Amino acid sequence: MSLTGNAALAGVMGWPISHSRSPRLHGYWLEQYGIDGAYVPLAVAPDRFGEALKGLQVAGFRGVNVTVPHKEAAFRACDTIDPDAKRIGAVNTILFGDNGSVQGSNTDAFGFIENIRQTADWPGGVAVVLGAGGAARAICVALIDAGATEIRLINRTKSRAEDLSHEFGNIIRVYDWENRSDAQIYASLLVNSTSLGMTGQPPLDIDLDHLPASAIVNDIVYAPLETPLLAAARKRGNIIVDGLGMLLHQARPGFEAWFGTAPAVTDALRNFVLEPK
Ligand code: ATR
Repeated sequence: MSLTGNAALAGVMGWPISHSRSPRLHGYWLEQYGIDGAYVPLAVAPDRFGEALKGLQVAGFRGVNVTVPHKEAAFRACDTIDPDAKRIGAVNTILFGDNGSVQGSNTDAFGFIENIRQTADWPGGVAVVLGAGGAARAICVALIDAGATEIRLINRTKSRAEDLSHEFGNIIRVYDWENRSDAQIYASLLVNSTSLGMTGQPPLDIDLDHLPASAIVNDIVYAPLETPLLAAARKRGNIIVDGLGMLLHQARPGFEAWFGTAPAVTDALRNFVLEPK
């Protein structure tokens, strides 16, 4: 659709940004809903974040998404921070308020749990999370709110997992990376939040022998869409949830805030975002 002088503007700030699928995703929704608006990639060098954010606000943008490496800088730059962003310690969505305020939120926990819910009904209980990076933080927040009774956090660098357990409390139990297979006993959910299994990365070496057949298995890696972990889980009868949905669902709150329409995550959207650019 062609833009008018009143077009609503948003975008995604990152460095680099050329790999981002967010412009394609938001562009699909803008087209689908016939919205007079645009969502653009914004390559912003790490030391220019504050300056660029101010410039976008001055230029009348409604807001932006923020990705690597700016999520922590965004946290510091906002006037208000929503509760999830405070718990995660990072901002991925910014709304410029009518009063000139810069409002930060984090939609990764929402995206994670909405993705699971679109496919499966997670009853709560024991969850096993591999990884302790930024994604794992958001996943722990989501799991705590969705009824986890115990989160077994397993990371190659154990101290990072311990840092999370100090922050989130006793619900997090830290296991050694070497025990990642045994730790799956009685689990109702297994999540890979490491980069292992991603195209170009080493595979995730894990056996699923101790995982109950009723457990849900989710990989936040979405390239490839069916990772070796998900393929192995499918083969033994577990419900599997791929990682693309987290990216799609985390985009919903920002789109609605900037463009005024609550967008839907559909199979057609999934296919469109997956197509080569
Ligand atoms: P993100 O924000 O996406 O979570 P990150 O903070 O870089 O990214 O975290 C990447 C995760 O993948 C970490 O848990 C990392 O483990 P370390 O904390 O030990 O670095 C994990 N990871 C990456 N490569 C790995 C490998 N070869 N073996 C085990 N874990 C790996």
